[in-house]
Amino acid sequence: MTAIFPGTFDPITNGHLDIIHRFKRLWPEDKLIIAIAEGENAGKKPIFTTEERLDQARALTAGVRGVEAKAFAGLLVEFARKAGARCIIRGLRNGTDFDYEMEMALINRELAPEIETIFIPAALEHMIISSSAVRQIAGAGGNADWMLPEQIRAELRKKSAKQ
Ligand code: PNS
Repeated sequence: MTAIFPGTFDPITNGHLDIIHRFKRLWPEDKLIIAIAEGENAGKKPIFTTEERLDQARALTAGVRGVEAKAFAGLLVEFARKAGARCIIRGLRNGTDFDYEMEMALINRELAPEIETIFIPAALEHMIISSSAVRQIAGAGGNADWMLPEQIRAELRKKSAKQ
């Protein structure tokens, strides 16, 4: 089976990595495609370019068999179909996530009934981690290191220094 783990990943956090590793622990033989939304389609302007986010995801999962990263624009389900994926994986942290994720899952199911969404609950230590919090903290000169893999910490510092 091929599964898709979609998101903006701006930047990829410890919470994202945990979901990837837990998926692979459950389904070690299956392929997981980290699908990086280019940004403009969701009305977002990411701080890291698509290429940077792809490089980050690839570097952080280099040792994990059956995980790859690709960029996508347009509808997620169309990307999933073209990749031959049967399911979409999303992490869930709280009730706010649930409302948003449930709606997205239902919309995706209307668009592509053959593709299932599977939610993986966030680990306790990742419940308050989010890419948007990382961006806000870094943008205001604060320290978001505890939310991030080491490599991303350095890249974020470089990015913040340039802005
Ligand atoms: O990391 P994010 O920002 O929560 O990820 C959201 C994402 C990229 C998964 C979502 O916005 C998405 O799937 N965008 C592609 C457009 C699409 O397919 N929309 C229909 C579902 S509402």
